[in-house]
Amino acid sequence: MFRPGHLIAAIALVAIALVAFAAPTQAGRKQPTGPIIVDTDIGVDDALAITWLLGQPNVEIVGFTTVVGNTSGDHATRNLLTLVAAAGEQYPVTVGAADPLELSRTRTGALIHGPDGLWFAQRPADIAGLPTDAPAALAAAAREHPGLTIVALGPLTNVARAIAAYPADMAGVRLVALGGAQRGGNRTPVAEFNIYADPDALAAVLASDMQVELVTLDAFSQVTVNPEQLIRRLGRRGDAVGALLAQSFGAYVRAQQMQGEAGRAAIPDAAAAVYALYPDLGGAQSALVKVVVDDGLARGQTVIAADLANRIPMIADDAELSALADQAFTPGSDMNAALGAILLREPDNAQVILDLDEGAVLRLFERDLLR
Ligand code: RIB
Ligand code: CA
Repeated sequence: MFRPGHLIAAIALVAIALVAFAAPTQAGRKQPTGPIIVDTDIGVDDALAITWLLGQPNVEIVGFTTVVGNTSGDHATRNLLTLVAAAGEQYPVTVGAADPLELSRTRTGALIHGPDGLWFAQRPADIAGLPTDAPAALAAAAREHPGLTIVALGPLTNVARAIAAYPADMAGVRLVALGGAQRGGNRTPVAEFNIYADPDALAAVLASDMQVELVTLDAFSQVTVNPEQLIRRLGRRGDAVGALLAQSFGAYVRAQQMQGEAGRAAIPDAAAAVYALYPDLGGAQSALVKVVVDDGLARGQTVIAADLANRIPMIADDAELSALADQAFTPGSDMNAALGAILLREPDNAQVILDLDEGAVLRLFERDLLR
């Protein structure tokens, strides 16, 4: 006599089989000191992240690409040039996408990051002569820098276009992307901003051969700072970068508080940047991820199954599972085989980071940002 508990047991058996052949766990991975390229829609938390990355002594930053997201592509580019100049540095900068792949551009980032993306901290910058082929720049970086990590702090439009135009160069490249949510959302109740801004881009990334690591809202919302304290400590840097970050972060926090997010402040991109260099601080797990691309109520929602029971309904529709259920009580039916066959139809397509070690991330962030 088949009982519901048998279904659970069947899934458990399949789970044991699959885990036995799963990729090695992520635990214990050392900090990758390989080269990085940063793709950014530089808004305020991007600026914190990039400043932290600029201060990492043993990481080679081979360049930056800019993308529309928090602000327009041109504002993002001028913001990046403003920040890099304030830091007294120079890097290759390539201007990227001004619009998402398919949907219309959201302009709601201005409510959190200001009309220029940095709450008026942007300075005049000549972007006219910059290269404008960000997909080519990402692919070239992958070719020329073995072991490259692409750190994507905004919508994935440039990365998706690079995959389409240069699939062989992008295959196998490590992508650490801030985006998605297993539960909740920060642009809508069910969508995180970067994925909401360009859901088609995430769909293309998930279908690619890149090594995708998604730092989700579930993880980055765990990493929060005392805003007044951070602003004071940024001011005490006594340099142009500290002044820029203190000014823009102050307005960013006030804007969030106006939206009812009082108290501690999340620093999403900074958390993702620290994870990119210290992956042991995140609980990366293999998952099947799908994304809603139509421009409706659930635009940009990411459906994330990191356990076997949830993978099955993401792969088989109700008609198929109902037919299985009809047979489940028939003597001789082999539920294990049926469920196993379903699971093997769609392998996992990403590593998702749903948890971060807040204390360790903040210690590293504040150690290197606030001299
Ligand atoms: O959801 C947070 C993300 O959206 C961050 O990258 C922030 O800069 C915005 O782009
Ligand atoms: Ca960003």
